[in-house]
Amino acid sequence: MVYSLKVVLILSLSLLPLGGAKSAAWSQEPEIIQGGRHLYEKFCVTCHGPKAKGDGSLAASLSPRPADLTQLTRLHGGQFPFWKAYRVIDGRQHLEGHGTRDMPVYGIWFRIPDDEVSIETEWADQVRGRIWQLLSYLESVQERS
Ligand code: HEC
Repeated sequence: MVYSLKVVLILSLSLLPLGGAKSAAWSQEPEIIQGGRHLYEKFCVTCHGPKAKGDGSLAASLSPRPADLTQLTRLHGGQFPFWKAYRVIDGRQHLEGHGTRDMPVYGIWFRIPDDEVSIETEWADQVRGRIWQLLSYLESVQERS
């Protein structure tokens, strides 16, 4: 009994450095940004363009023109305007180019119904997760001059 405990201890100790190295290489950031890129390509690319420069296939026919989303940080004193962009995407801040709160141009995927905003629902959790991923992606494509 004592012997097997010792073996277990030595075995688990010898595994420790391996576990540490593995978790360091397994960073969350790329997977969140990648998730955001998928969402961007699905819901935003037609207007804001493949590199978020505001030159999507629909852009020329729109007035006002879609914003160049790579300039958000530059236009906000060098700091990515996380919460401002959040409000634009979830519709709390009305934007002519994004349709109405009830009928956003990119569908309902980033909207929490008004009567659910202050309560926890699975949908609300999913919406917040999507917007967070999207913003992580947008932050990663900011151009710094
Ligand atoms: C149908 C076209 C269209 C789609 C789809 C669209 N946008 Fe936009 N977006 C616009 C237009 C047009 C503007 C500029 C509106 C204005 O200036 O009033 C804009 C502006 C913005 C802004 C504000 C930028 C600033 O300067 O404050 C953000 C942020 C944004 N869009 C993010 C997104 C994201 C994220 C998606 C995808 C979920 C998306 N948009 C999908 C047309 C679109």
